[in-house]
Amino acid sequence: MKRELLDIPTVELDEDKNVMRIIDQTLLPGETKVIELKTAQEIWDAIYLLKVRGAPAIGVAAGYGIYILACEIADEITSGVSTVSEQVADANAAPEQVAEGFYAQYKEKSDYLNSARPTAVNLSWALKRMDGVCRQVLDEAAGSKADPAAMMKAVTDRLRAEARTIHTEDIETCRKIGEYGLSLIKPGDGILTHCNAGQLATSKYGTATAPMYLAHEKGYGLHIYCDETRPLLQGARLTAHELAAAGMDVTLQCDNMAASLMKQGKINAIFVGCDRMAANGDFANKIGTLGVATIAARYKVPFYVCVPSSSVDMNTKDGSGIVIEQRPDTEVTEMWYEKRMAPEGIKVYNPAFDVTDHDLVTAVITERGIARAPFDESLKKLMNAED
Ligand code: MRU
Repeated sequence: MKRELLDIPTVELDEDKNVMRIIDQTLLPGETKVIELKTAQEIWDAIYLLKVRGAPAIGVAAGYGIYILACEIADEITSGVSTVSEQVADANAAPEQVAEGFYAQYKEKSDYLNSARPTAVNLSWALKRMDGVCRQVLDEAAGSKADPAAMMKAVTDRLRAEARTIHTEDIETCRKIGEYGLSLIKPGDGILTHCNAGQLATSKYGTATAPMYLAHEKGYGLHIYCDETRPLLQGARLTAHELAAAGMDVTLQCDNMAASLMKQGKINAIFVGCDRMAANGDFANKIGTLGVATIAARYKVPFYVCVPSSSVDMNTKDGSGIVIEQRPDTEVTEMWYEKRMAPEGIKVYNPAFDVTDHDLVTAVITERGIARAPFDESLKKLMNAED
């Protein structure tokens, strides 16, 4: 087991080469390969194909991704070869024209990245945050009659700073989730998790795994049970891999074995991540989470959701408003098998996520504190609180 996995950033920006580097998670655990992304197509594909995945990591990748694409547009404008309009490429163009020309292309690229995956709110959250900065800098620069080169430098500098802030905030957020989560576990506990809400899904610590990493540092001797997580096996390929690399006691089971573990009393608590939480506490997470929560309620096992505030969508009233990503049939029928294992032509149901009802949730752990039912009230209070 390679300990170095945990020392490689899930997502990082190389400012000198102006590329984003990610661990290609589709190759884990067999191969630990870092790849470079530069074009809009490469970034979109990496998100869609789950080379970079997990809600917070997708947000970080979106921030760096749109920054890299913004630099490309800015370079075209300053070198006078902009394809957006002849006026923008003209050295005598009015600052407002340059700003609007830049923004039109920027928005197009941002919308394109945003279309890669619909469920994890961090993608649109990060792009919206970058968009706010972009608009503000362009308006200021146009207002002060900045020349095109100065305007392009101002906007790319601020976008890079914002993308870096999204990244560093994620590390701090996960650490705080870990501290709150740690207060809910005891030495020797059996902990079950589903999918990968680990370091590989974030910038460090993970969300659901953050309490496990902190407990491990303190010598708690936890027994971690990872659901393999059909069909893309994030639990087997990623969570089991990274937690074992950290030296934890990890057991892997197929998703349909979790009930039997709970019935035997081996699980003291369940920690899962979240792709989008609605204002009432309903939340989307990897397909199968709803089943885990339902069984946990049957056997009275505490069920905790670890949610950075960036994954709480107060504009969505309840789970019925969350768009669920549908994935290709072949992920169920062919992937991971030497030969296709299902009948040709069979209909396949392959949603990437399901929505767990808030009444199955014991508590929501955020970087701002722990929310308990009634969640519509407790989440509103936390989301309105200062960091
Ligand atoms: O399809 P994936 O691998 O991106 O799904 C990931 C999950 O469902 C995670 O649990 C969620 O994004 C939280 S990650 C901290």
